[in-house]
Amino acid sequence: MGKRFIMENNELTKWHRAYTQNAYHELEQGITRKQLGTLNIKAADRKVLDVGCGPGNLLVALSTDNPRLLIGVDVDATFLSIGYSKIKESINPSSKVPTLIRASLPTLPFADETFDLVTCFLVMPHVPDDKVALTELARVLKPGGTLAISGHGFGFPLRYLKRFRLKPLQMYLASIIYKGTGKKLIRNTLQSEKKICNVLHDIGLAVDVQNYNKKVLGCVATYWIRATKSDTIPNAMQ
Ligand SMILES: C[S@@+](CC[C@H](N)C(=O)[O-])C[C@H]1O[C@@H](n2cnc3c(N)ncnc32)[C@H](O)[C@@H]1O
Repeated sequence: MGKRFIMENNELTKWHRAYTQNAYHELEQGITRKQLGTLNIKAADRKVLDVGCGPGNLLVALSTDNPRLLIGVDVDATFLSIGYSKIKESINPSSKVPTLIRASLPTLPFADETFDLVTCFLVMPHVPDDKVALTELARVLKPGGTLAISGHGFGFPLRYLKRFRLKPLQMYLASIIYKGTGKKLIRNTLQSEKKICNVLHDIGLAVDVQNYNKKVLGCVATYWIRATKSDTIPNAMQ
């Protein structure tokens, strides 16, 4: 199932270019830092992993805090190669330079309880199974560590009805299929932020910050959640 979402074709596409341009524009405008600030994310002196790092925009922002260790993981080799060049151009010489690794959530090549902070922004719409992915993110987190995630809620496609043409319909279809079958057969599944919070609770994380910005017709477009891994394993996991 996981393989379905791995891009074997490492071409530089229009989407890679557009995404990178927009991501670094947001970084320059201070939007990325603001998002980290809203979640009260602190990377200083911590071991930090960014899963689904794309072109490395978040890694550049996190590096300015001088983390003890900074690693970015992505399934897409093209994004990793763009990220490598962009990070070299953008990073402050005194900042921690991140290591980039190709790997696919939900199979991360790290031992249990390695990181103090794991970020995973806008990747949930693409993972094969929400609970399996979140469990893997929690696995590599130390007890007391912080997980920060974001994804798209049911209001997201409404903002782009005109620009995306058929894509909003595809997103709703993907979400209906996932709800009915438990399988993500199409990319870009939307999530109910409440369900994501319930899963986090079930796997032993306490949600401490929720930021649902950009609501459309009362539906969350993008959710941002920070959660803390508890020191004890929940009964359901034993
Ligand atoms: C929308 S981009 C987000 C990039 C970055 N995190 C950000 O917030 O700008 C989604 C990223 O997740 C990566 N991705 C998708 N599925 C993945 C998986 N199963 N494991 C690791 N990365 C994945 C994609 O290659 C892409 O770089």
